Amino acid sequence: MSRQHTLLMPLDMHLHLRDGVMLETVAPLSSYTFSGAVVMPNLVPPITSKESLLAYKERVLLACGYGVDSDNFEDGDGLGGSDFEPLMTLFYQNYSEDFLQEVRDDIFAIKLYPAGITTNSEGGVESFDIETMRPTLEAMARMDIPLLVHGETDGFVMDREAEFMSIYKLLAENFPDLKIVMEHITTMAAVDMLERHENLYATITIHHLLITLDDVAGGMLAPHLFCKPIAKRPEDREALLKVALEAHPKVMFGSDSAPHPQHRKEACGCAAGVFTAPIALQLLCELFDKHGKLENLQNFVSDNAQNIYGICPEFKEVILENKEFKIPERYGEVVPIYAGKTIAWSIEDVI
Ligand code: DOR
Ligand code: ZN
Repeated sequence: MSRQHTLLMPLDMHLHLRDGVMLETVAPLSSYTFSGAVVMPNLVPPITSKESLLAYKERVLLACGYGVDSDNFEDGDGLGGSDFEPLMTLFYQNYSEDFLQEVRDDIFAIKLYPAGITTNSEGGVESFDIETMRPTLEAMARMDIPLLVHGETDGFVMDREAEFMSIYKLLAENFPDLKIVMEHITTMAAVDMLERHENLYATITIHHLLITLDDVAGGMLAPHLFCKPIAKRPEDREALLKVALEAHPKVMFGSDSAPHPQHRKEACGCAAGVFTAPIALQLLCELFDKHGKLENLQNFVSDNAQNIYGICPEFKEVILENKEFKIPERYGEVVPIYAGKTIAWSIEDVI
């Protein structure tokens, strides 16, 4: 008799849904198993206005099958009456307080990218001059708008995240009332920061819990495991695993599932991003079960995020089963992590 494990209201606190045909392919895969997801704003051009944010949210809901004419969609609270809530983000710029007031009710957070550090981040922050950023960050703190950060410098690729710790320190100390989330952390250095600054939190991906740089580049180059920040050393993965498996109250699951068409990955000049969204929960179950920590998965994939952000997700019950599942070779144009491999857990039902 195979074992089952139920997750209530899983949340993906860092997700790339893209736009157009790609959005139509990937959005239903997330809305099927997750109650909500924090939707990244790095489109081309990035989401920097109220109009583009609301229009994108509508395209996301449509792609999830929650069209304006659908029974699932109830306007009124602006979030739809569906069982998947896209938590929308703006791309960080130095915004005026007036503008932030105007968008406050439509956004979940603001995502900061250092300029040019990853996919579609060219319009990001050029230099971390605290005084230039102060009016925006103080207004965000006053309005309780979280700051989500892609924390990498432009240094040597393996050192980029560790080098960014001094910037996190500066941000955390200068804006003690601002909730700052270190997105997709990959290093022991970032894990250590959680204890140092009360207002720092973190998301962790499934791929950074599973792989190290060896899996990416130690043998034949593995383009579908190439992402930013790049996977690091075994001791870094151990540090991430420790806080994820114990569901440290300051860490949350954020897949950073980042789909690119197959031809952009299997190319000379491989795009950064690992596509994990449709198999993230199955892989998490397999991993937590392997370590005898399944009882902590609920906190890692939902409850911690609910507590940190003070949110109350749409009801959803996902029943997973300890039954083999063969990962598809492709979802539309996208090759997922571990394509074609068989894993130990599958989705049995979603209620
Ligand atoms: O690997 C990544 N892909 N890292 C990011 O930060 C962005 C993402 C993307 O948008 O493709
Ligand atoms: Zn991302």
